[in-house]
Amino acid sequence: MSVHFSLSARVQSLKPSSTVAVSSRALELRRQGIDVISMSVGEPDFDTPPHVKAAAIAAIESGKTKYTAVSGIAELREAISAKFQRENGLSHAADAVTVTSGGKQALFNAFFALLNPGDEVLIPAPYWVSYPEMVAFTGAVPVPVPTTPESGFQLDPGVLEALVTPRTRMIVLNSPGNPTGAVFPPDVLEAVAGIAQRHNLMIVTDEMYEHLVYGAEHISIGTFAPNHTLTVNGASKAYAMTGWRIGYAGGPKAVIAAMNAIQSQSTSNASSVSQYAALAALEQHEETMRFIEMARTAYRERRDVIVAGLNALGLPTPTPHGAFYVMANTDRIDSNELEAARRLLDEARVAVVPGTDFGAPGQVRLSYATDMATIREVLARIEALVG
Ligand SMILES: Cc1ncc(COP(=O)(O)O)c(C=O)c1O
Repeated sequence: MSVHFSLSARVQSLKPSSTVAVSSRALELRRQGIDVISMSVGEPDFDTPPHVKAAAIAAIESGKTKYTAVSGIAELREAISAKFQRENGLSHAADAVTVTSGGKQALFNAFFALLNPGDEVLIPAPYWVSYPEMVAFTGAVPVPVPTTPESGFQLDPGVLEALVTPRTRMIVLNSPGNPTGAVFPPDVLEAVAGIAQRHNLMIVTDEMYEHLVYGAEHISIGTFAPNHTLTVNGASKAYAMTGWRIGYAGGPKAVIAAMNAIQSQSTSNASSVSQYAALAALEQHEETMRFIEMARTAYRERRDVIVAGLNALGLPTPTPHGAFYVMANTDRIDSNELEAARRLLDEARVAVVPGTDFGAPGQVRLSYATDMATIREVLARIEALVG
C-alpha cells in the first residue's frame, strides 16, 4: 500500500542548485565512459595543508571527539577573534564569534536570525545561487541589484540605494565574489556602509574568498559600519578545507546569540575534529600564509591563461580580480546560456554553469581551480566547438 504525504510548501519552493545539477550530469556522462572536464565546481584543487591534517589526527588520537560548545571551542573562537583583528581590522571578542558547519550554515543561521517574511534583501547580481534561495526560504524577498560585465561587475552604490524601500532589511555582499570574481574597492564599501547606516539595514558580508585577490586589496566592510555588519568567513576556500565544514561569523553579540540559538536546536557544534584542524590553520599563521601564497600565485597564472584564451575565442570575459571563477559571454555559441552550456557539455565535453541561476543571462561560469594542463585542454575543446 502506498503512503501519501505532501512536502512542505517551503521546501517545494526551493530550487535545487544548478551548480549541482550540471556536475551530476557531467558525472553521469563520465559514468558512461565519456571524458568530460568539469569547470563547474567551486573548490580548490589543492590538498589541505599538512600542518592542518596533523592537528586533526592529533585531536582524534587525544580523544577530542565529543560535543563542544554550540558556538565552538573557546580556543578557536579566540583564534578567530585574533584573526578578525589581525587581517580585517575588526574587533569581535570571542563571545561575538560563532563557529558553524561551513560558511553556508553561518549564512543560513544569519538569515533566519535576522529576517521576517516580506522583508526585502538587496543582493548584487550576478550572485552566488544560495543567497536568494536561502533568503526566500525564510519568507523574505531577494531583490537583485544589477551590475554589468562592462564594469567588471562593479557595484554602483547609487543603483543599490535606489532599490531601498520601507521593507528593506538587509544587504548581502560577497567580495571577492562568486561567480564574478569582482572585488569591491574601499570607496564603494564605504558608500554601501553609509547606506546601511542611513536606512538602518544589516549588512551580511561573505568574505570566503578574501585571500584570493590578484592585484586588488580585500577590505572588510565591517570596518566602516561595525554595528551594522555581520562578517561571514570560513576555512573552505582559504585553507583548501571544503570537506571539513568549518565556517564562522563575527558581529553584534545579539545577532551571534540568535544564530547560536538556531544552531543549538538544529546541528549543534561543528565537527570537533574539524574545529581543531581550523585552529591549527589560524594559529600556525605563517605556515598557512605560505600555503595561501602558493595557491594565490597558481590561481593568478591560471586566471591569466583562461581569460586571454576565452577572449581570443570570441567569448568576451572580463578579468576578475579575485576568487577563482570567470564569467564568459556565450553569444558566440548560443544566445541562450542554457543552450550554450548544453552544447559545451554535450559537444565540447566541458561542464560549465549557466548564468541563469546566478542572475547572469547570456553568460556561463567557469571555475579555474584546476591545473594548467586542464585549462589548456578546455580552451582547445572550446576552440574546436566554435571553430
Ligand atoms: C560565496 C560563497 N559563500 C559560501 C560558500 C560556502 O562555503 P562552505 O563550503 O564553507 O559552506 C561558497 C561555496 O561555494 C561560496 O562560493
